[in-house]
Amino acid sequence: MSKQRILTGITTSGTPHLGNYVGAIRPAVEASKNSDVESFYFLADYHALIKCNDPDAVHRSTLEIAASWIALGLDTDKAVFYRQSDIPQIPELMWLLNCMAAKGLMNRAHAYKAAVQDNETAGEDADFGVTMGLFSYPVLMAADILMFNAHQIPVGRDQIQHVEMARDIAQRFNHHYGEHFALPQALVDDDVPLLQGLDGRKMSKSYGNTIPLFLTEKQLKKHINKIKTNLLEPGEPKDADSSSVFQIWQAFATPEQIAEMREEFAKGIAWGEAKKQLFELVNAELAPARERYEALLNAPDEIEAILQVGAEKARAISQPFMDEVRRAVGIRPLA
Ligand code: TRP
Repeated sequence: MSKQRILTGITTSGTPHLGNYVGAIRPAVEASKNSDVESFYFLADYHALIKCNDPDAVHRSTLEIAASWIALGLDTDKAVFYRQSDIPQIPELMWLLNCMAAKGLMNRAHAYKAAVQDNETAGEDADFGVTMGLFSYPVLMAADILMFNAHQIPVGRDQIQHVEMARDIAQRFNHHYGEHFALPQALVDDDVPLLQGLDGRKMSKSYGNTIPLFLTEKQLKKHINKIKTNLLEPGEPKDADSSSVFQIWQAFATPEQIAEMREEFAKGIAWGEAKKQLFELVNAELAPARERYEALLNAPDEIEAILQVGAEKARAISQPFMDEVRRAVGIRPLA
């Protein structure tokens, strides 16, 4: 049997934060070392254009995200690490999938529905400000996945629906043109923590409550000090489970350290002390990668070279496969 393929994309808008790290990057870097599966990780820069129309921001984010993954130890020999826009077959496949995807299915996509809902609340036309990019976002994502016949798609909960849509589109294509696509499945890891941000809500760029992944030590300390806590004094017992400080601690600590900190909370550790220990723990895990990250940011040609090797590996698969799919729909030489 051929190896299972794991594939996931990272949208290149914004700077990676601790939530991205514990939820996606750290598990993916671990998985990239496993030789029993083939892993595909890519920078979804076409997806970035849906949310971000600032060319410098898209470009900068691509650099930062690539540098982060490499600095954190992604095994780019074992895994295929590439940039979506280096694979011309992806948008090509998207068109064929567009011609198979039901518009009604896209109407039900959460991101689109949320935009319509916001417009209705604001008394605007339902589609005000909605681009075709936003509307057909799930079809581009289906092309990313189906292009490489990936089986398992590690994603956050908010992306499960998109993977199901890819599966739907694949089924419809296969039914009509013959079995060409593997049916993908979302892989949601319940063991990875969903981090809370500075204000206690889910850490997310859209809430502006994140702790960026690569800060200087000083800035990291500052951010950790800003995590919202209650007014309990030193010596007063504190509830670990409702605390963002403890929650982030859990994402970085060993089981023994977690048990110890739980004790400390019960005994009334001062917030300042808990934050100091949290800073030390997080910093110890990130410090070595931080140095590599800074070096990589100053050597974009090195990153570019790594991405080009990845793109070649990816195109070695996508090119012949796209030929197969084009033939299947009746696009082939006349003679
Ligand atoms: N839409 C995903 C996100 O915002 C990123 C993404 C693009 C993706 N293409 C993908 C994830 C294909 C998995 C598979 O998180």
